[in-house]
Amino acid sequence: MTEQDFILKNYNANIDNGSVKWTSPSNIALVKYWGKKKHQIPENPSISFTLSDCKTITEITYTKKDSKGFSFDVFFEGNKNEAFKPKIQTFFERIESYMPFLTAFHFKIETSNTFPHSSGIASSASGMSAIALCLMSIEKKLTTQGNSTNDQAYFNKKASFLARLGSGSACRSIEGELVVWGKNDSVSNSSDLYGTKFEADVHSVFKNYQDTILLVDKGEKQVSSTVGHQLMYGHPFAEERFKQAHVNIANLKTVLATGDLNEFIKIVESEALTLHAMMMTSLPYFILMKPNTLEIINKIWAYRAQTDSKVCFTLDAGANVHVLYPESEKQNVIEFIKNELVTYCQNGHYICDQIGQGANQIQL
Ligand code: DP6
Repeated sequence: MTEQDFILKNYNANIDNGSVKWTSPSNIALVKYWGKKKHQIPENPSISFTLSDCKTITEITYTKKDSKGFSFDVFFEGNKNEAFKPKIQTFFERIESYMPFLTAFHFKIETSNTFPHSSGIASSASGMSAIALCLMSIEKKLTTQGNSTNDQAYFNKKASFLARLGSGSACRSIEGELVVWGKNDSVSNSSDLYGTKFEADVHSVFKNYQDTILLVDKGEKQVSSTVGHQLMYGHPFAEERFKQAHVNIANLKTVLATGDLNEFIKIVESEALTLHAMMMTSLPYFILMKPNTLEIINKIWAYRAQTDSKVCFTLDAGANVHVLYPESEKQNVIEFIKNELVTYCQNGHYICDQIGQGANQIQL
């Protein structure tokens, strides 16, 4: 599919108002997206686990208006929020050509997260995908039967396509349990334009795979992901890194089929450290890990060396640590976390989550 396929050609201008509501989850990348081209096209493919409980809940109420331009208000956890507006304004500008009705309505966007906003968990993936899904539901209401928006596969693709234009990783939050984004040879139908559900064989060991997020630092990041991506331009190791991601996706595909957790650990931990290595070798260079991030990594390695555990870690663009492990190890790993890792978490906070099925519409 191309961008042209996502342009809505006509819609029913007689609908005056309505409301739609979605919950959309966060996701955690196993092979990381770091570096992008124009129009939110990734420099390399990525693959993620969709999460289950870390979600954004968004309701959009739309009311017909006569004035020109965009008109919207944002409420976060019940309170009017001006800080989120610029990002949504940019998002609307990027997607207007695919949704011409955006200027025909005033939108009241009411949103909240199931995880604390100040947790340092990126809410852009769940937040942007939730808005994209609400807008798709509005598009569906404005179009008649037989229109492509009424086709579920098209709906998901366009929702992911739009979410990508809000925040790259958001395009991987529409479906579960594993989603690939970015064209690569090992995953058929993969695309730079949207996330694709990973349909190849997945071994039963990954069923209900656990992700416990250790909240090491809840503060605002010193360098945003957007700036970090830009620093991959002219980065001395960029080309090798982009190639490596393709190889890691191909290898991970095999690992997902065989259930070889030793190989899984190698790929996932190496990806996490490579992401941070890219940050440390950018110009300007920066470090998002904190001393406690490293303490936790070392404890996980020591625990693995002492036991036959297959627990491993990954990181996103921050100091928090995602601890990944099979469901069969849940009791032991939680015990290990409580005994040895909680001490490195800010205020002892951590969040237990697991692999999930994707976004859900809430009927009003
Ligand atoms: C490190 O999706 O937040 O989490 O497209 O600029 O919004 P923008 O960036 P964003 O980048 C996420 C990067 C990452 C890795 C990943 O999720 O693949």
